[in-house]
Amino acid sequence: MMFKLSKSFDVDFSKYQDIITKNHDLLHNKEGKGNDFLGWLDLPNRITLDELNKLKATARRIRDISDVVVITGIGGSYLAVRTAVEFLKVFKPKIEILYAGHNLSSTYMYELKDYLKDKDFSVVVISKSGTTTETAIAFRFLKELLNKYSNPSERIIAVTDAKKGALRKLADEEGYESYVIPNDVGGRYSILTPCGLLGMAIAGIDIDKIVIGARKAYNDLLVEDININLAYQYALSRNLLYKDSDKKVEILVNYDPKLNYFNEWWKQLFGESDGKDGLGIFPVSVSFSTDLHSLGQYIQEGERLFFETVINIVKPRYDIEVPIDSIDDGLTYLEGKNLDYVNKKAMEGTYEAHVAGGVEVITIDIPDDTEETFGYLVYFFMKACAMSGYIIGVNPFNQPGVEYYKKNMFKLLGKPGY
Ligand code: PA5
Repeated sequence: MMFKLSKSFDVDFSKYQDIITKNHDLLHNKEGKGNDFLGWLDLPNRITLDELNKLKATARRIRDISDVVVITGIGGSYLAVRTAVEFLKVFKPKIEILYAGHNLSSTYMYELKDYLKDKDFSVVVISKSGTTTETAIAFRFLKELLNKYSNPSERIIAVTDAKKGALRKLADEEGYESYVIPNDVGGRYSILTPCGLLGMAIAGIDIDKIVIGARKAYNDLLVEDININLAYQYALSRNLLYKDSDKKVEILVNYDPKLNYFNEWWKQLFGESDGKDGLGIFPVSVSFSTDLHSLGQYIQEGERLFFETVINIVKPRYDIEVPIDSIDDGLTYLEGKNLDYVNKKAMEGTYEAHVAGGVEVITIDIPDDTEETFGYLVYFFMKACAMSGYIIGVNPFNQPGVEYYKKNMFKLLGKPGY
């Protein structure tokens, strides 16, 4: 296994092997709830070199004609790209990446349009259903702006269903280059489809390495033995805290803001997968040490509702020493120490304080912050999420509750038929 998992509490995993085996079989024999949405399960092994090369060629073409690319989508069709870009290329994407379609803010759209009006830009519009309101509205604005070009269609790439939806129809009619999100892969499990990989390639992320990492995770996590399979250990541990200790909230913790959008991706993954039938752990997130200066107080001394899952990057890509300086700011004792050493001491100190304060902590050590590790990380959590949903007893692959707000909104907006 590429990762290491440790906990502040003891669990005899062997005692639960039967539950794990039953759910592992349901998942891998495709006999469990939501079994028509299991396309993500062996996706790392199905992606071909040709597919990766085609994505990279599109990325190069789009970069050649643009200064900015607007990734347009919401939910899984937005977070997939943003999570990877923030983790791997936050300060230096190969091209400026902006986002649209993930909100309905008039100010955001006004300012985005204003910013883009003098720029050379292209749009990647991502929607599996091809009918999502937020995405469709944003795309309309951007398409209108693209009319300044003689051939706007060459600046639009659609990522959508192979056959269904308004976006597929439009892409075929207008001749956009397009990619397919497979029918059997749900939005929040689609990060390793063109939904995530195209935007990553445009940003200059090495998608071959992402797939190599995901493949490693796929192979490592095929084993049903809970004493070996860390994704299953994580899935079981969180459910034991939920069921036996009444911990209804899980806080995902990072010590590096490059994981902030990973937090968002993880919240969607677990929130939409677990939270149904009156069940599920509520997923929230913090970024330390930033949030130790805000939510840290509640975590230390507030109601004991939650447990923490910490993602620890063991060896970050870069490290730097605290500079030596003559100023009298009380930091002399840290001069010459590595900044990551200070960060790790903050993590260790926080762990001890929170455990002493009655907060159980699961720690997942990831070796570094490379492409390979990112590929491993997303597959790890998708596999854990599927197992977790099956342990809780819900269908982790649907999201029926998401429709409620839409129906009300459509009615209030006067959409025909509502
Ligand atoms: O997980 C999901 O299925 C959702 O969050 C979707 O990703 C989100 O609603 C966007 O849907 P679509 O890609 O159809 O526009």
